[in-house]
Amino acid sequence: MAFPEKFITELVERNDIVDVVSGYVRLGKKSGSNMFGLCPFHSEKTPSFSVSPDKQIYHCFGCGKGGGVINFIMEIEGLTFPEAVEFLARRVNMPMPEQENDAESRKRARMLALNKDAARFFYEQLSTPAGQPARDYMAKRRIGPATAKNFGLGFAPDSWESLRNAMKAKGYNDFEMADAGLVRRGKTSGFYDTFRNRLMFPVIDVRGNVIGFSGRILGDGEPKYMNSPETLVFNKSRNLFALNLAKKSKSGYIILSEGNIDVVSLHQAGFDSAVASLGTSLTAEQARLLSRYTKEVIIAYDNDGAGLKASQRAIGILEQLDVKVRVLRMSGAKDPDEFIKLKGPDAFRNLLEASENQVDYRLKAVTDKYDLTQDDQKVAFLREATDFVARLPGSLERQVYAMRVATMAGVAADAVTGEVERRRKRMIRSAQRTDEREQTRPGIQMQPPEKALRYDDPGSAAAEEGLIRLLYNEPALVKRPNLPPAEDFSAPALGRIYGVIRQKLERGDTVNTATLGAALSGEEMNLLVRVIQKPEVLNRSDQALQDYIRKIQEHKDARQPGTDLRELQKKLKETKGYRG
Ligand code: GTP
Ligand code: MN
Repeated sequence: MAFPEKFITELVERNDIVDVVSGYVRLGKKSGSNMFGLCPFHSEKTPSFSVSPDKQIYHCFGCGKGGGVINFIMEIEGLTFPEAVEFLARRVNMPMPEQENDAESRKRARMLALNKDAARFFYEQLSTPAGQPARDYMAKRRIGPATAKNFGLGFAPDSWESLRNAMKAKGYNDFEMADAGLVRRGKTSGFYDTFRNRLMFPVIDVRGNVIGFSGRILGDGEPKYMNSPETLVFNKSRNLFALNLAKKSKSGYIILSEGNIDVVSLHQAGFDSAVASLGTSLTAEQARLLSRYTKEVIIAYDNDGAGLKASQRAIGILEQLDVKVRVLRMSGAKDPDEFIKLKGPDAFRNLLEASENQVDYRLKAVTDKYDLTQDDQKVAFLREATDFVARLPGSLERQVYAMRVATMAGVAADAVTGEVERRRKRMIRSAQRTDEREQTRPGIQMQPPEKALRYDDPGSAAAEEGLIRLLYNEPALVKRPNLPPAEDFSAPALGRIYGVIRQKLERGDTVNTATLGAALSGEEMNLLVRVIQKPEVLNRSDQALQDYIRKIQEHKDARQPGTDLRELQKKLKETKGYRG
């Protein structure tokens, strides 16, 4: 990492974690040496988010997130490690050190400059004679000049190297352009423009950087859209089209639609909080990004089967964050753009106001599956609908929807209400039983919540965790001659953490969550914090160390292929490319 260790250490000392976290979370009274509050990273009603002033770390017992003060800022502000460092430096008025010439960050800055120049080039083409087809198309889609300017729309001319030549004249070479996805290498010779004869939508991130492009064909044809490939600066699943504009909206909600044209059209009609996911269905990362800017999302997907399916997926994802979801039901138009053109902005505003909350919407989806004039279907409907209502958290809510279900099926309200509460009791009982089972099975309970990090060999993983914890708390132990290599670890993530800690200690570096933050991924940092939070008997650390080392060795021997048939089968599967 480009920051000197001394700088990071001072930065962390001056940004006390309690002060920093208090800017986002109301920290309540102490329990032991920790302070508690409501976790800002997941929705909860009782505090399970703890901050340790002694260790200068935070940890949520609910969602498993944790780390030092830099990780906290990365997570809550959605920043990268260097950005979070800069954020905290500004917070305490610390001057930033002269950055070493970090090759990757220079490359990134250069690519952003290239993208910005390309966007400017495309925009300028709109007012040249060659831009006539684009102007015609925009007129046909009723996109006005002010809107074009607001979005920085542009035109990629119908030519093989107009962008390439223009960018060459500005000093960029073919390889830089190819890395940015703006040109492609031909089969036989040279490079040529990726986007030709298309209406260009620059994708701009929340900090105002042009990170990529979407190009729509002018009229009908395939492919309708071409998007920039994933690059050093462009990650489709982590960005949303027009969020740079929508984040400034005062409307209090964000409208999530499918198409770029829908977004442009919505903004033009005064709905300045519309965004679109970039040609994919909403990802968890996009949802998290949205939740940083709004507490309410209104889904306005296309009015077709695919749109319906995508809506349901999006509801599921958003619901896990603390975001209220409503779904717009359009009729007589295939998408928001067409709706506004046919019926006008006022009609769309009425739709927004009438948009259903997600419970209504989901209940409607259940209802639509059955023909309620048929007795047998009515029974199946009642079964599914009572099950759905029983899962609603509020008792008042259950009451209201139970009555609605009863009315729809034409049965007595009491019958449905009673059935809903019976089902709910059964659900709670069975959930409690599962909890108890899990608590008596340590193998399961100690598993990290992230699926990708699940331990294959919990027995060994417990010892691996112990070894990490000891090294972290007692750096001198790194001198012991018989420490196992990281490859002996059964859990890859623990092996990585162990390797990084050991390497740092052997070099004589300090090890804490700040210095590890640059070397570990977010998931690995969460895992590390969970591991070091667990209690350890430190007065007999040498004994414990040797126990852990022995256990790791034994488990490793037992895992040797040939001694365990299941392991062997698994290995075979992996070599064939299967997973899970
Ligand atoms: P129109 O209303 O037909 O003008 O287009 P739209 O902008 O509303 O887009 P549409 O609803 O057809 O598609 C939704 C999104 O999916 C688009 O904004 C693109 O991001 C993406 N998309 C659509 N067609 C393609 C395609 O052919 N290739 C790729 N890669 N993405 C596409
Ligand atoms: Mn559309």
